[in-house]
Amino acid sequence: MRRRSDAWDMRLTRREVLRLAGGAALALSLGSACGGGNGGNSSGGGQSVPDGSTGALQRSVAPLPEPFSIPLPIPPVLRPVRSDATTDYYEITQRPGRAAILPGLATEIWGYNGSFPGPTIETRRGRQAVVRHRNELPVPTVVHLHGAKTPPAHDGYPTDLVLPVGGWAGGHGDHAAMGHTSQGAKEYVYPLDQPAATLWYHDHRMDFTGPQVYQGLAGFHLVRDAAEDALPLPKGERDIPLLICDRSFAADGAFMYPAIDPALRDKPGVTKDFMNGVLGDVNLVNGAAWPFLEVTNTRYRFRLLNAANARRYRLALDPPPPEGPAFVQIGADVGLLGQPVAHERIEIGPAERFDVVIDFSAYPVGTRVTLVNRYVEGAMSRVMRFHVVREARDDSAVPSRLVEFEPLPRSAATVTREFRFAQEDDRWTINGKPFDPQRIDARPQLGATEIWRISSEQDHPVHLHLAHFQVLGRGRRILGIGDSGDDPGPYNAGWKDTVYVSSSEQVEIIARFDGYRGKYVFHCHNLEHEDMAMMANFEVV
Ligand code: C2O
Ligand code: CU
Ligand code: CU
Repeated sequence: MRRRSDAWDMRLTRREVLRLAGGAALALSLGSACGGGNGGNSSGGGQSVPDGSTGALQRSVAPLPEPFSIPLPIPPVLRPVRSDATTDYYEITQRPGRAAILPGLATEIWGYNGSFPGPTIETRRGRQAVVRHRNELPVPTVVHLHGAKTPPAHDGYPTDLVLPVGGWAGGHGDHAAMGHTSQGAKEYVYPLDQPAATLWYHDHRMDFTGPQVYQGLAGFHLVRDAAEDALPLPKGERDIPLLICDRSFAADGAFMYPAIDPALRDKPGVTKDFMNGVLGDVNLVNGAAWPFLEVTNTRYRFRLLNAANARRYRLALDPPPPEGPAFVQIGADVGLLGQPVAHERIEIGPAERFDVVIDFSAYPVGTRVTLVNRYVEGAMSRVMRFHVVREARDDSAVPSRLVEFEPLPRSAATVTREFRFAQEDDRWTINGKPFDPQRIDARPQLGATEIWRISSEQDHPVHLHLAHFQVLGRGRRILGIGDSGDDPGPYNAGWKDTVYVSSSEQVEIIARFDGYRGKYVFHCHNLEHEDMAMMANFEVV
């Protein structure tokens, strides 16, 4: 097994010291300003937190549950309504539902089949999936399958609205005219000729993705293949997807989101204090607040997805295992790794996925192991808890070689492009421009390999549709001159679709634009930034 991350972790020490210093100072100022609240990131006013998350914290009004008192729910796997030689057909209705998240209160969610997270779709590489989405919500929606290589008409372009079955009298006549609008329902066709990976589907409505995902429109789509089947990884009940996000609750139990227009009709965006991002004060895993999971003293595979609008997590195990690494990473956003990578902690930004194995045999039976977020103190430092309840046989293993992995060398790239993610007045921009669905900012050739150099003033999880990429290097920008070096850092192994670019950092990625011709978006996956214009188009020609 490759233990490179240990070296990386050591090298991070100086930065960590700075982080800890910053965090302590912040906790102190929070303590005095807010009476020692329960450990969020910032107390409003829109300031961002160094090296933690970008955004402002909303405090719940409703009473919050006791941590670790609710069992972890696992979203049901959706059955196809029919299958033929090439294709599995699914049907999903987007509708309001009621979730029991808080003691004694119901939370209205908007969910795929009325649940949050939505049902998990599991398909096999090369088998086409057709998902018919019917919109019984009061607002237009768009479905995007994040991480999939999908033809442009089915990728969930932000203006390709599915209007409510009940009709829509709201705004966006202009957007509707620009996009391909469907009345009431749309069939999304996914070829999915790509390696096994943890994909997720979520809403992508132009200007309103933040509030609509916050309301519950997100679910897993797992792609499996023969290469994955051949590995002795934990399977079945020990292969568990974990959708992690944060939320805040109003007095009546409703999700609290600071939309400028709470009806989500015309005016996009959030109130000024939350422009940097919306942070909640409750962690949800698979829709449950600070849940627990009973495990045997064996290996488990967890597919970690950060589905939060803005929060970044620095995940660790408390207590750490007496021996061996806390996490063995086996996969990244869009596929399994060539070799496993050991981590004591994992920094995961919005939309990123880490496929990891935790070996609970390192702990004595009876141990309670908490998955924690080391960026913050207090209640929000807790994510969920594992109870190691009994012994069991374990035939699983993490082999030292996983799948064929082809590193993309710099020399493979034919074009280099630069993108600067910045804030200008009350908008977020890319190369100085806010999103315009009609403007194309890059025209890669079909099949081309390109280097994209991304720099930012603040923290931005940058996501490309269609193109999968590898991270070449990341470094600080000094006096406007970037030096990305050739160290992608410990958290950027493998094939990715989202990369976390920290403030004043430059990151170089190498992307392959294969799949389909047509127009796709790339954007910041901090959903408040995305809704406030931090998005652009590329067209594969
Ligand atoms: Cu997960 Cu364009 O988004
Ligand atoms: Cu995407
Ligand atoms: Cu951003």
